[in-house]
Amino acid sequence: MFVKQFKYSADNLGYLVFSTSEGIAIDAGGVDDMLAFAEKNALHIKYVINTHSHHDHTQGNAAILERTNAQFIDCKQIRSDQTLMLDKESLEVFCTPGHTDDSVTFKGDDFLITGDTLFNGTVGNCFTGDLHAFFLSLKRLMSLSGHFKIYGGHDYVIESMEMAKTIEKENPHIEAYLKKYTPGLVVSTLADELRVNPYIRFNAPPMIKNLQKRNMPVDTEFDRFNGIMEIY
Ligand SMILES: [Fe+2]
Repeated sequence: MFVKQFKYSADNLGYLVFSTSEGIAIDAGGVDDMLAFAEKNALHIKYVINTHSHHDHTQGNAAILERTNAQFIDCKQIRSDQTLMLDKESLEVFCTPGHTDDSVTFKGDDFLITGDTLFNGTVGNCFTGDLHAFFLSLKRLMSLSGHFKIYGGHDYVIESMEMAKTIEKENPHIEAYLKKYTPGLVVSTLADELRVNPYIRFNAPPMIKNLQKRNMPVDTEFDRFNGIMEIY
């Protein structure tokens, strides 16, 4: 299975995930670019879906649906783990609530499309207010193998690493992460994120020390996640 990323608006990222002949449009904001790519590669767009229902992610749905015979899948209807088939390959969809109640993540053989749940370098705002649900969503992503590629819903890499440097000045991995960054293709691995993304580093000894210095509770993983989200 393949992933083609499309940047649109200022920093939004949409995706066409495809197999040999069938594809799925995820947060299809760059409609013209996506359709041109599909045509050039003889891909039939089978489904249109979103990582969550915020307007900046759904704004291309109507145009794609009008110009193809794709089937729309409403992310709000996804309440348990699902599998979507593209040709003979499967793409898993699972709920990752926190940023919104209807946030979902797509899992292919070696990649995750995480929307505004997990970005390259940071995490989304927890607009639901349910920080524990958000924590569990991130934990589910973190439980996967480090080689999984992370494709987020926005390119916030530069500002995220500026923030990461203020939180963990001594972290030697931040510069290496920035060196790998190219705005033309925004992607990292889960292992990269665990090295630099402050919000999922609640098990990293330097981050735990950081919290202890500030007299924040560090007994449980959730205490530490909560502390990082509270301070930063
Ligand atoms: Fe969002």
